[in-house]
Amino acid sequence: MNEFKQLSQQMRQAVNAEMKAVLHAAETPPDLYYGMMHYHMGWRDEQLQPADVNAGKQIRPVICLLTCQAAGGDWEQAVPAAAAIELLHNFSLIHDDIEDGSPTRRGRKTLWTIWGTEQAINAGDSMFALAHLALNRLVDRGVAAETAVHALRRFDETCVRLTQGQHADMDFERRDAVSVDEYLAMITGKTAVLLSLCTELGALIAGVDETAVHNYAQFGLNLGLAFQVIDDILGIWGDEALIGKSASTDILTKKKTLPILYGLSQNGTLRQLYEQENTDEAFVQQAIEVLNTTGAREYASERATFYSQTSLQHLEEAQPTGPAFTALNQLSAMLLKRDF
Ligand code: IPE
Ligand code: IPE
Ligand code: MG
Ligand code: MG
Repeated sequence: MNEFKQLSQQMRQAVNAEMKAVLHAAETPPDLYYGMMHYHMGWRDEQLQPADVNAGKQIRPVICLLTCQAAGGDWEQAVPAAAAIELLHNFSLIHDDIEDGSPTRRGRKTLWTIWGTEQAINAGDSMFALAHLALNRLVDRGVAAETAVHALRRFDETCVRLTQGQHADMDFERRDAVSVDEYLAMITGKTAVLLSLCTELGALIAGVDETAVHNYAQFGLNLGLAFQVIDDILGIWGDEALIGKSASTDILTKKKTLPILYGLSQNGTLRQLYEQENTDEAFVQQAIEVLNTTGAREYASERATFYSQTSLQHLEEAQPTGPAFTALNQLSAMLLKRDF
């Protein structure tokens, strides 16, 4: 077993136990209020019967805990931060699926398609608040109150950035021209700052100096940029059975993802197509056919590789040590090649 597999397995177990405690998963059967959240997490099925299905890749909590260990800390102390970040991520997905009109997530129906938009919004709100309560548990693990308060502030600042990114992402759907810089600011907000928070809080709890915290945060940020560019690629060319979500939604909603931006800058036919008001499956197929002639996929892949390499340079500069450092390198390589 490689370092990543070995370490991530025990870390995931600890994080899932923590999230279950925060979401009252021991109360059986759950009422619909908690039950909806348990469904989203993969712990219950649509009838709220026990389930144990794919609850996502859980890369964020694992990155947080690996960073804490690689920075010389006790990863178990950081478990509440890892759980809080994963809950915040899941809150953002519940709302994102409403915002994007996405019917599937992790190979299952999205919350809003089962219980309606109103209840899904409320479940997301609840998970947002529970994520904060999860972070407050840091002090129970012996983390200094000062560090916990600092973590809470960074957590909230990240939430603001994340919703700013989501705002831009939706705004861009209605705009014809979006620059690569605007796109980068948008994905920094919607995705990369949360990955950056994972590594920043891991380092903070490990107690390393400010320069090292900064380098770990930059490692997470660039890893997040690479991660989102790959998500953009999978959102067009991914296999729905593997990614567990629609590979049409991005084009149907005219998302300004990186391959699309590149295609629009290179190809007049695509620009004309995108002037069309309404979209359907035929539109999606036409768009992909044109995109395939532009080298958009290769362009986006190269950008993802660049951000991944940049992230590893920052990681090196932070001077991490031990098997957790090896595991972070292994994870980074896996994320770059991922097809799910
Ligand atoms: C999906 O994130 C949203 C993005 C920021 C691209 P993940 O791909 O990490 O989702 P799960 O948690 O594994 O389902
Ligand atoms: C991911 O948004 C970012 C957040 C949810 C904050 P996307 O809309 O790009 O991600 P997927 O493709 O639905 O997972
Ligand atoms: Mg989405
Ligand atoms: Mg979205």
